[in-house]
Amino acid sequence: MPEVYTLNDLVSREVLDAGEVKPARLAVIGWPIAHSASPQMQQAALDAAGIPARYVRLEVARGRVGEALARMGELGFIGCNVTVPHKLEVMAACDVVDAAAQGLGAVNAVSFEAERTRGFNTDGPGFERAIADEFGVALGALKVVVFGAGGGAGQALAAQCVMQGVARLVIVNRTLDKLWPLASRLQALAPGCELTALSLHDPALAETCLGGDLLVNASSVGLHPGEPSIVPAACLRAGHLVYDCVYQPTPTPLLEQAAARGCRTASGRSMLLHQGALAFQQWFPGSAPLAVMRAALAGASGGR
Ligand code: ATR
Repeated sequence: MPEVYTLNDLVSREVLDAGEVKPARLAVIGWPIAHSASPQMQQAALDAAGIPARYVRLEVARGRVGEALARMGELGFIGCNVTVPHKLEVMAACDVVDAAAQGLGAVNAVSFEAERTRGFNTDGPGFERAIADEFGVALGALKVVVFGAGGGAGQALAAQCVMQGVARLVIVNRTLDKLWPLASRLQALAPGCELTALSLHDPALAETCLGGDLLVNASSVGLHPGEPSIVPAACLRAGHLVYDCVYQPTPTPLLEQAAARGCRTASGRSMLLHQGALAFQQWFPGSAPLAVMRAALAGASGGR
C-alpha cells in the first residue's frame, strides 16, 4: 500500500484497491500528509472492531477539497478526517455542516451519508479532553492564549474556549485582519468573556501572555523541519501550561523552549487521539475506540 494516495488514485476501485484485501473507505486529507499518524490509530480501531476497511492518507492541494469529497463519495467512502490547510475550505465543500461545527467555525471530519456529505468538528471537544488529560484541569477554568487563531484549528479551539466559559481569551495571529470576523463571532458566543486580539508582532504580546495560564500553538508552525517556535521567548514564564497542537518532531521547538523556561508542556498527540476517537464514534455509532487508539498511537511516530 502506498504511504500517500493522490486524487489520481481515486479514479476507480480497481486502481485504489489494487493488490489490497480490504477496500479503502476512510482517509485523512491534507497537505502535507505523509507525516500523519491518523492511519495508525484509525486502522487499529477498525481492525479491533472487525470492520473490513482501510484508512489511507490522501494528499489534496488547496482548492481541490470539493473534488476530493466528490470522488470519495462516488467510491463509497464512509468518512474522512481533515487536517491542515483544509479545515476552512472543507466547510464550503460539504452539503451540510453540523450546528456545533458552524459554532466552532471549522470542520475537521466528514461523513459520507446517503445523498449528502456532512461536515462536523471534533477538534474543539478533542482539545478540551486533551487539556483535562494532560494537565488535570478544566479548560473553562483557565485564562488562555491561542497562537495561530486565524487558521481552521485555531478558530475551533478559540470557540471551544469561550463555550467552556474561559474568563479571558487572547487570540493571536501573524495576519491580524483574519482575527476580526473570529473576534465578532466569539463575542457573540460569549459576551462576558474578556477578549483580546493581537498580532504576533504586537509590543503588548509578551506582557499579555505572562498574565495567562495556558498558551496554545494552534498553527502548523513547528511541523516543518527547521521552523522556529511561533511563541516569542518573552511570552513564557515558569508555571505556564503550554500545549502544542503539533507533535512532531518530539519535542517540538515550542515545547523544548517552554520546558527550558519551567513551563508544563504537552504535545498535540492527546488532541489527535481524542479528535480521532470522537470522529470514529460518529462514523460507527456505539463504538468505543479510545483505548485501542491510545495504544496504537503510543507505538506510532508521526505529526499532526
Ligand atoms: P488550518 O486552517 O487547516 O488550521 P491554515 O489555514 O494553514 O491551516 O492555518 C494555519 C495557521 O497557522 C494560521 O493562523 C496561519 O497564520 P496566517 O493567518 O497569518 O496565515 C498560521 N501560520 C502558518 N505559518 C505561519 C508562520 N510561518 N508564522 C506564523 N503563523 C503562521
